[in-house]
Amino acid sequence: MTEQSPGLSNLLTENRTFPPSAEFAAQANATAEWYERGDADREAFWAEQAERLTWDTKWSRVLDWSGAPFAKWFVGGKLNVAYNCVDRHVEAGHGDQVAIHWVGEPGDTRDITYAQLKDDVSRAANALLSLGVKAHDRVAIQLQMIPEAIVAMLACARIGALHSVVFGGFSPAALRSRVDDAAAKIVITSDGQFRRGKAAPMKANVDQALEGAESVEKVIVVRRTGEDVPMDPERDVWWHDLVDAQSPEHTPEAFDSEHPLFILYTSGTTGRPKGILHTSGGYLTQVAYTHHVVFDHKPGRDVYWCTADIGWVTGHSYIVYGPLANRVTQVVYEGTPNTPHEGRHWEIIQNYKVSIYYTAPTLIRTFMKWGDDIPAQYDLSSLRVLGSVGEPINPEAWIWYREHIGAGKAPVVDTWWQTETGAIMISPLPGVTATKPGSAQTPLPGISAIVVDDTGKEVPHGGGGYLVLDKPWPSMLRGIWGDDERFKETYWSRFADQGYYFAGDGAKYDDDGDIWLLGRVDDVMNVSGHRISTTEVESALVSHPTVAEAAVVGATDPTTGQGIVAFVILRGNAVDGGEEAVQELRNHVAKEIGPIAKPRQIMVVPELPKTRSGKIMRRLLRDVAENRQIGDVTTLADSSVMDLISAGLKSGK
Ligand code: WTA
Repeated sequence: MTEQSPGLSNLLTENRTFPPSAEFAAQANATAEWYERGDADREAFWAEQAERLTWDTKWSRVLDWSGAPFAKWFVGGKLNVAYNCVDRHVEAGHGDQVAIHWVGEPGDTRDITYAQLKDDVSRAANALLSLGVKAHDRVAIQLQMIPEAIVAMLACARIGALHSVVFGGFSPAALRSRVDDAAAKIVITSDGQFRRGKAAPMKANVDQALEGAESVEKVIVVRRTGEDVPMDPERDVWWHDLVDAQSPEHTPEAFDSEHPLFILYTSGTTGRPKGILHTSGGYLTQVAYTHHVVFDHKPGRDVYWCTADIGWVTGHSYIVYGPLANRVTQVVYEGTPNTPHEGRHWEIIQNYKVSIYYTAPTLIRTFMKWGDDIPAQYDLSSLRVLGSVGEPINPEAWIWYREHIGAGKAPVVDTWWQTETGAIMISPLPGVTATKPGSAQTPLPGISAIVVDDTGKEVPHGGGGYLVLDKPWPSMLRGIWGDDERFKETYWSRFADQGYYFAGDGAKYDDDGDIWLLGRVDDVMNVSGHRISTTEVESALVSHPTVAEAAVVGATDPTTGQGIVAFVILRGNAVDGGEEAVQELRNHVAKEIGPIAKPRQIMVVPELPKTRSGKIMRRLLRDVAENRQIGDVTTLADSSVMDLISAGLKSGK
């Protein structure tokens, strides 16, 4: 078993359980029997779930795994994803139901019904067609949480174009590499965004990113902050000029179940981000199914709020596709949780009577820090299900969430999944599972996940090892954009003999066989639920002229889960390595990747600990970063290096 972060060790001693109330269980969407059905005949189970969708042509076969690890689900089926998320609800008489209660950071609001959403998506689809966008073309979207972001994604889906959403906080360089990798034809952005009460530019960053970008033909700009932005008359067009003038009529075309839906870039163990590819029928089936059972969602009754950003997979699967396919009424909030005050989320929940709330442990811990008295000032009695995603949730945060937000009775569902899995894989079911603080517990009905040792053998109850997915699932990634070899190598080579998908997470079984996630076992860090690879930050650091070498580790952080700590060797004696130099390097990383990747701490060191084969021993650096006794140094090429580093740090050099 690989090293685990000591911050997670308290997980292993937690043994409280919270059985569901009889009242909740009586009305729950799922029952214990679903697990049996999922096990008895997996394909029949998924066929049943696919019936949640409206298909133009029914599939002839549930799963074709003959080209493993490239799966085909619902083979021969045809559907339109946007039709399933919007039009069919209008046709069924729910046109007046609010789809989106949008709340702008400055306090402006918009309520958008399904009928309006249908018109908006159709206009945007017509707009893309008018620019020559065709099925299979790629459209990059860098937008904050405004309704146009959702409309743009659905418009792409409607015409069979792939969207590649790039998080608004990514730097021009990061946007550019994603635009180039996918050869995006169109980029959709806004003039600027409201962040912590101020207008911050977006278009200016996009302009910088796209200088000389060959694939990009047009840039569509949503007006949000109203500030002046230069518009290139050849390339740039305002959303309101282009989209508002279009017809609200558009007939959706049915695409193959395996038609590509989107690419979403995520960090891997190398510096180059991977374009994770998802397709239509299987993806939509699993996001709709999981949204239905994991959140116990009742259309027309619940008000749902997932606080993620559409720049991440949680926004794709649990703001856009799953919820809308299930005819959700949901809150979408543009801003930060403490603008203009630290009770903003609770105020929104009170105002809209939110009943299902889905957020991340890092935010829960931040709320804890701000104080119990803040949520206590609001009426949160509408809440009936609470979700968590992005990193292991520590039992203290779990209990606080249940007590202070869920009034000691709302079930907490800790959902484990990844960009690659597309949808939730491991989670308790509210009303069915007796929940355990800190554990994601059981693979959902229809899903299989096991914990194995180094050789791929399942470990006994009480044992720890690696989490693998041993059976294909409908929303699984279909590859890495343009790199089939890397797809096989990254996910399928570690346990190739068994044919398991290796998730990159450490996990253990408790004595009941429930799964506890223990964090990444590779060089991927998890900072506030964002995946950032150590290599990515290292390459950004060494791209600075003063840096000779860099090593980056994720150190346990009480709020963000992990914090980025960098060790750098500076070139010659050009700089002194003082405060200013360090600050400059932190800003350099923010500029290269984005503010989320800014190291919490940079230590200037004379040497880095390496093995004889030249591999940096991050374990030892993590000991330093977490102020621990330094572990075993016997495999170091030069065992005095750690003394040098410690001595240098103590003397403040
Ligand atoms: C981590 C986010 C423990 C895990 C949906 C995974 C979690 C990575 C949990 C994927 C959880 C996500 N418990 N760890 N409930 N949820 N993770 O691709 O390390 O941004 O591999 O997808 O986040 O991050 P990604």
